[in-house]
Amino acid sequence: MKNRETFRRLFLLSALTACLMLLAAPAFAVEAGYVGSDKCTECHGDLAKAFSTNIHAKAGAYGFKDAGCESCHGPAGAHVGSGDTAGIINPSKIDYEAASETCLKCHSKGKGQMFWHGSIHESQKIACVICHKIHGGNEKLLAKKTEVELCVSCHTDVRADMFKRSKHPMRDSSSPTGEGKMTCSSCHNAHGSRGEKLIDAKSFNDKCYECHTEKKAPMLWEHSPVKEDCLTCHNAHGSSNDKMLVTKAPRLCQQCHMQGRHQTGALGTDSTYTFNRSCLNCHTQIHGSNNPSGAVLQR
Ligand code: HEC
Ligand code: HEC
Ligand code: HEC
Ligand code: HEC
Ligand code: HEC
Ligand code: HEC
Ligand code: HEC
Ligand code: HEC
Ligand code: HEC
Ligand code: HEC
Repeated sequence: MKNRETFRRLFLLSALTACLMLLAAPAFAVEAGYVGSDKCTECHGDLAKAFSTNIHAKAGAYGFKDAGCESCHGPAGAHVGSGDTAGIINPSKIDYEAASETCLKCHSKGKGQMFWHGSIHESQKIACVICHKIHGGNEKLLAKKTEVELCVSCHTDVRADMFKRSKHPMRDSSSPTGEGKMTCSSCHNAHGSRGEKLIDAKSFNDKCYECHTEKKAPMLWEHSPVKEDCLTCHNAHGSSNDKMLVTKAPRLCQQCHMQGRHQTGALGTDSTYTFNRSCLNCHTQIHGSNNPSGAVLQR
């Protein structure tokens, strides 16, 4: 009887101590090798101080147990003991897939990164940390000052488009033309998309309608290529023709309108049909007309 009572007390006592130890230790300490973020301040003081304003320092508020240093750098027990970098993970120095995995642990559920796997950037072996810089990145933790700057550092042809005669206003708001009304991610999701070319909409046209809503409305007299694909006539980024047209009228129109009375091939440069705005001199309602007598898109 007495023995059993002692045993019971001992058991309760040890259970209680175990509980207290678990409560007192940081969440990671239960797992082997983790030492907790406080330890890092001893040697990485400045970096750790700067990190306190990083969105990851507030990850707890989003329901993550811990996004401390070791959530990205792995268990630092060996590193702390030896000061040797062999024991620590630096996501910018490891294989692209493993590097991205350190981020996807937490970032695979959100809408943003849902289509990452199989996306063009993933297949080009571009890890998250090529575009994102955790320590000292900009507000979206981007590796360059602005998003556009980041994207055109690789996509130089798009950079050239942005400086053409007509273009979407994507240049920096500090540019002489004071643009910066939109960025690449107004149309693309760099992390992947359902649609082609990283366009995060059901179709190219649906993307255009998001801002050019008036082009979506049904018309009394439709011009059929318009509802099919805006890009038949327009470039998406910029063009050396007016209104981002892929080519000038009359050539633009003659790609499709070859038979007929006045729209055919070899018109002289002084012809009424090619002068000035060419076909658009008369066919002004090129996206369709709502005028009862707008059958030929003249009004
Ligand atoms: C006893 C001192 C010490 C402590 C404590 C310490 N480090 Fe380090 N750490 C170093 C030294 C020294 C280096 C190598 C020089 C450098 O890059 O600053 C380093 C480098 C690193 C690197 C870069 C590795 C690379 O290959 O580029 C990371 C990441 C890192 N530490 C993370 C941590 C984390 C996370 C903690 C806390 C869990 C931590 N360190 C605690 C001394 C320490
Ligand atoms: C969300 C992931 C993440 C967290 C959390 C994180 N780091 Fe890093 N750390 C990185 C990445 C990625 C790099 C590679 C360079 C970069 O992106 O800034 C890096 C680089 C480093 C380096 C190498 C030095 C350098 O500037 O290249 C050190 C040291 C370091 N981190 C320490 C820490 C410490 C200490 C903490 C906690 C206070 C911490 N990290 C929290 C992702 C993280
Ligand atoms: C432990 C979980 C965790 C890990 C690991 C992690 N993150 Fe995060 N991250 C968060 C949380 C939580 C937020 C804030 C809420 C959100 O935006 O989803 C966040 C926010 C971000 C943001 C948005 C910044 C902003 O200002 O809107 C970026 C970019 C980001 N993380 C990139 C990364 C990258 C790159 C890695 C890998 C090097 C990484 N994260 C690793 C949890 C994590
Ligand atoms: C090709 C460049 C690029 C790559 C690679 C990249 N990102 Fe991003 N990421 C961006 C840009 C640009 C933004 C800002 C987009 C915006 O403002 O809508 C962003 C925003 C984010 C955000 C905050 C907004 C959101 O969508 O939730 C998170 C989180 C994020 N990235 C995580 C990741 C993770 C995780 C990876 C790797 C699996 C990754 N990123 C790879 C360019 C990139
Ligand atoms: C580190 C270089 C790099 C950066 C930074 C980068 N990309 Fe890419 N991107 C590539 C490569 C490589 C390809 C595949 C080859 C190609 O089509 O040029 C690609 C392909 C694309 C494609 C074509 C998709 C397809 O299906 O053909 C789009 C759209 C794109 N990137 C948009 C962006 C945007 C937006 C950003 C900025 C948020 C960005 N990229 C940043 C390297 C980069
Ligand atoms: C107004 C919407 C819009 C904006 C803003 C935009 N794009 Fe695009 N982008 C598109 C569309 C639509 C396509 C598909 C065009 C095509 O296939 O001809 C495309 C195609 C691309 C391609 C693939 C090109 C090819 O020839 O296959 C790349 C790379 C690209 N965009 C990068 C960027 C970059 C970088 C930015 C920012 C500087 C940007 N885009 C801004 C709509 C946009
Ligand atoms: C995020 C909003 C947005 C999206 C999406 C968008 N545009 Fe635009 N578009 C604009 C803005 C802003 C302007 C400039 C208007 C201005 O300067 O008055 C513009 C201007 C234009 C112009 C006239 C250019 C000129 O030189 O006057 C054309 C053509 C055009 N867009 C076509 C498209 C096409 C095609 C798509 C789909 C691939 C598209 N837009 C998607 C915002 C958008
Ligand atoms: C058949 C060729 C063609 C197609 C297809 C086309 N456009 Fe146009 N678009 C033009 C022409 C030509 C102009 C110049 C009109 C002018 O200068 O009077 C123009 C001008 C514009 C402009 C600037 C002037 C305005 O009307 O606001 C925008 C914006 C525009 N188009 C958007 C679109 C969108 C969005 C689509 C797809 C829904 C589209 N276009 C499809 C030929 C086309
Ligand atoms: C991608 C092919 C394509 C392009 C480019 C194109 N159109 Fe059309 N257009 C059509 C089709 C298809 C119809 C429907 C006509 C039909 O049913 O025969 C049409 C109808 C018309 C009509 C109405 C007359 C009718 O027969 O219904 C006019 C006017 C017209 N287009 C003018 C133009 C002008 C001007 C341009 C250049 C700015 C142009 N189109 C560019 C394909 C095109
Ligand atoms: C001077 C005004 C004017 C110019 C410029 C003009 N059109 Fe027309 N277009 C008309 C009128 C008016 C009609 C309807 C009467 C007719 O059939 O002749 C018409 C009819 C059409 C039709 C309907 C089918 C048909 O043959 O009746 C098409 C397609 C067309 N034009 C395309 C074009 C193209 C392409 C150009 C540029 C090369 C062009 N138009 C330039 C005035 C013009």
